[in-house]
Amino acid sequence: MKVALITGITGQDGAYLAELLLSKGYVVHGVKRRSSLINTDRVDHLYEDVSVENRRFIMHYGDMTDSLNITAIIQKVQPDEIYNLAAMSHVKVSFEEPEYTANADGIGTLRVLEAVRLLGLTEKTKIYQASTSELYGLVQEVPQSEKTPFYPRSPYAVAKLYAYWITVNYREAYNLFACNGILFNHESPLRGETFVTRKITRGIAQVALGMDKQLFMGNIDAKRDWGHAKDYVEAMWLILQQNNAEDYVIATGETTSVRDFIAMAFLEIGVTIKFNGTDINEVAIVESIDESKYLEYIGSEFGEHGRLELGDQVLSIDERYFRPTEVELLIGDPTKSKTKLNWQPKYDLKGLIEEMVKSDVQLFRSKL
Ligand code: NAP
Ligand code: GDD
Repeated sequence: MKVALITGITGQDGAYLAELLLSKGYVVHGVKRRSSLINTDRVDHLYEDVSVENRRFIMHYGDMTDSLNITAIIQKVQPDEIYNLAAMSHVKVSFEEPEYTANADGIGTLRVLEAVRLLGLTEKTKIYQASTSELYGLVQEVPQSEKTPFYPRSPYAVAKLYAYWITVNYREAYNLFACNGILFNHESPLRGETFVTRKITRGIAQVALGMDKQLFMGNIDAKRDWGHAKDYVEAMWLILQQNNAEDYVIATGETTSVRDFIAMAFLEIGVTIKFNGTDINEVAIVESIDESKYLEYIGSEFGEHGRLELGDQVLSIDERYFRPTEVELLIGDPTKSKTKLNWQPKYDLKGLIEEMVKSDVQLFRSKL
């Protein structure tokens, strides 16, 4: 049985990857942070009690900012594959916590690579580094491929730039099987609540159920290449199954604005919205409602604000969500991953939105 170690196992990708590797027969070890509240919701269904013989899912307390701890875990686990997913992954928050982000996301990656080297595991252990399309930032080319120059636009992206190059350097200097997956945005019902897609699907569920009046959004002109996290963790695994260690762009090759994502998500519950106004004065208004779809989705119970009606204002712009430097457009060129990894996403954007909206409507209906 192969042994995998996943840092960031309690995050969106960590949870899907753990499921995937368990289904492939791996023993899966994960690193979780100590916190005052339980932070293992996404993987609780995989938990095995310590009394279970030959457990295949094992958690270790750890933190990317603690070299001794990272080294000790890797020594104990002796992994065949490490998936380094742990990071302070929120771009806007990285402007408020730049030093911590550099430490966890940048130097944290060095800690993993150096531990593998110092422990004499360079022949045994393959390493996947969670690199990001944020590296392209102020894009120098459209679409972005493995050859497009980087231009990071946030403390998060700058930290990830260090992580990208230190991974390449350890591969070249020490012949480590270390690879960067340059993943474009990927989402799911497990996505953190403050990333834009989940904020939208949660917000729409609450507004549609009369639990809130409207969404407050930042720059809705930004465009992203959105895929489903389930498809993307499969690519991570494929990258480590190749004969040669290389870096890959993982993307759908299509881009959509935040504004269009919002309109598509409202349409999913039968509501057509119209945007009026410009810049920070822009709003969205309910233009029409497909009654049977709306009521079939939402049911007949509503919160204090009641059901949606024609003309209701359901969105405003709030400058607090703007970023000091923005990444306006991302669209990946997945040619290499399609040809070399034979990777093909199963979800399209409509299917992703449907799954996320359904899941959040169900979540909030249960709270009514
Ligand atoms: P996520 O949901 O935010 O999960 C991040 C994980 O890292 C969580 O388990 C978190 O633990 C853990 N973590 C954060 N700081 C840590 C620290 N100092 N020590 C140990 N663990 C720490 O992110 P994700 O969406 O799954 O993304 C996974 C990785 O891919 C991240 O590195 C992200 O930057 C990168 N990435 C994501 C995307 C995307 O679109 N999702 C695209 C490209 C790259 P807690 O649960 O305790 O917070
Ligand atoms: N979060 C958020 N909240 N974003 C908003 C909002 C809002 O209210 N309104 C507009 N946006 C815009 C952001 O300005 C950005 O241009 C876009 O929506 C996407 O924002 P996020 O969902 O926060 O993701 P991200 O693209 O900044 O970063 C994510 O993807 C990267 C890969 O490109 C994260 O998962 C990163 O960890 C990942 O590396």
